[in-house]
Amino acid sequence: MRNVFVVAIVIVVFGGLLYAGDMMGMGMMHHSKKASIDDKRISLNFPPPMKQEQLANMRSHLEAVKTIVDFISKGKFDEASKVAHQKLGLAPDMQKMCGMVKNKGFASMGLSFHKSADKLSNVLKTKDTKKSLQALNQTLSFCVQCHATYRQ
Ligand code: HEC
Repeated sequence: MRNVFVVAIVIVVFGGLLYAGDMMGMGMMHHSKKASIDDKRISLNFPPPMKQEQLANMRSHLEAVKTIVDFISKGKFDEASKVAHQKLGLAPDMQKMCGMVKNKGFASMGLSFHKSADKLSNVLKTKDTKKSLQALNQTLSFCVQCHATYRQ
């Protein structure tokens, strides 16, 4: 009788642990599975060597935006203009990189983005804060739009 009692306790405790573990595991599995199912963005199927380069390029884009905002806040429009053109504008290497992507929609969005940065560079030369922020917002719209549409 006593043995039966011990076995019952063991079953209840282990069962509880398994159940809790399962819940946690399920919870996590469910979450990541759901995230990949819910990710409706178009995959670009970048080859591995291109992945790192593209991400590094992206981080430098973000840094450029930060620098531009910093310069605008200090009234250093010429410096901001230079960064917009040099780091985000349609330079030959940027054009080449966007052109390497097979997806036409991505490539054309990339080109529009770089062109908008050159426009931003020109607007910054007017030293008009409001117009500059509007142009920067325009450029940032391309960042947002592309990220919402595509993934690596
Ligand atoms: C034409 C498309 C496109 C444009 C425009 C674009 N990006 Fe991206 N960006 C991507 C893709 C694709 C990824 C990879 C996302 C993924 O696979 O989930 C990415 C990733 C990133 C990352 C993550 C980097 C990392 O190390 O993980 C940052 C930061 C980023 N972009 C910043 C920006 C900023 C800032 C801008 C605008 C100034 C911008 N991007 C414009 C396509 C774009």
